[in-house]
Amino acid sequence: MKRGRSLLIAASLLVPTMASAGTIANTKHDLSATSTAVIKSGTQTDTCVFCHVSHSSAPGVARPLWSHTMTTQNLTWAPTTTVRGTVLPTAITSAALTGSRSCMSCHDGTVALGDLLNGTGGTVSGTNVTAGKLTGGINLLNPASMQSNHPIGVAKPAAATGFTAFKTVAASSPVNYDSSGFVQCDSCHNPHDNTFVPFLRISPAGGAICTSCHDI
Ligand code: HEC
Ligand code: HEC
Ligand code: HEC
Ligand code: HEC
Repeated sequence: MKRGRSLLIAASLLVPTMASAGTIANTKHDLSATSTAVIKSGTQTDTCVFCHVSHSSAPGVARPLWSHTMTTQNLTWAPTTTVRGTVLPTAITSAALTGSRSCMSCHDGTVALGDLLNGTGGTVSGTNVTAGKLTGGINLLNPASMQSNHPIGVAKPAAATGFTAFKTVAASSPVNYDSSGFVQCDSCHNPHDNTFVPFLRISPAGGAICTSCHDI
């Protein structure tokens, strides 16, 4: 009896910690009208609908039940290759960029944050937002100068003399290539969880995100 009760107390003490880990509520990805985020909708109170919808979603966009209108803005990289000579992908509709296209649909500033395939996000406003679109600040990824970002849509390259090596990443690693073997935004980010700001999959301490792939 006593033992059962102390287990119950232990379990109830664990609950708040577990519930708070991984929540999207009131992060910068909570655009709902009641969110404490600076950028949010004036009317839409659903948090998830800015990215997902339970019906009439957009299948085949490599994102489950996707609801946000997709960008058609291609990417420009200068130089057009990595230092190893790997060509960086530019066509936003290409298979190599499928995973990152959903993120760029809000972050490239060409599609309104509340522009949804099914339903409406209402008018989203706040700092760095013009006409409902993200138009400024460090969270805007300029599609015309992608070279300021880590390459996306690239695969683990073969060993090359003079360059550092790449690790074979275990399937169980939280930081990883996508199922087709490409680096995407969510190789490093988890859009639902801001435990490791800004929405990182793991703590970046000691370069842990980078050394998941780079053998340095
Ligand atoms: C800012 C965009 C965004 C918002 C808002 C968002 N998601 Fe997601 N969600 C994604 C993306 C992108 C993926 C694809 C997998 C990934 O990158 O982690 C995903 C994947 C998922 C998955 C499948 C993968 C898994 O983790 O099981 C579920 C379930 C899910 N989201 C539920 C939700 C729910 C519930 C909400 C609202 C509380 C929500 N999402 C809000 C972007 C979002
Ligand atoms: C529905 C629109 C939307 C989608 C889709 C979206 N984001 Fe965001 N994201 C935002 C907004 C709005 C902000 C806040 C911008 C600001 O405050 O300037 C933000 C902020 C961020 C931040 C900064 C967080 C911080 O704490 O500073 C990161 C990182 C980020 N997003 C990554 C992603 C990734 C990765 C994806 C795809 C998996 C994604 N986002 C998809 C709207 C979106
Ligand atoms: C190789 C890992 C990696 C990839 C791939 C990646 N990010 Fe990031 N991102 C990070 C890290 C680490 C930070 C925080 C430190 C920093 O600012 O560089 C960050 C920061 C950010 C921020 C905050 C603003 C800033 O400049 O610090 C945004 C927004 C963001 N990422 C969005 C994206 C989007 C959208 C994509 C895909 C187009 C993407 N990231 C791809 C690792 C990555
Ligand atoms: C999911 C695996 C993965 C992760 C995580 C990752 N990288 Fe990379 N990185 C790559 C791939 C793949 C390339 C492109 C290799 C090529 O040239 O073909 C690359 C290229 C680079 C380059 C060369 C860019 C260029 O234009 O030539 C640098 C520098 C780099 N990464 C640094 C980092 C840093 C810093 C981090 C941590 C924030 C990181 N990487 C995380 C896979 C990864």
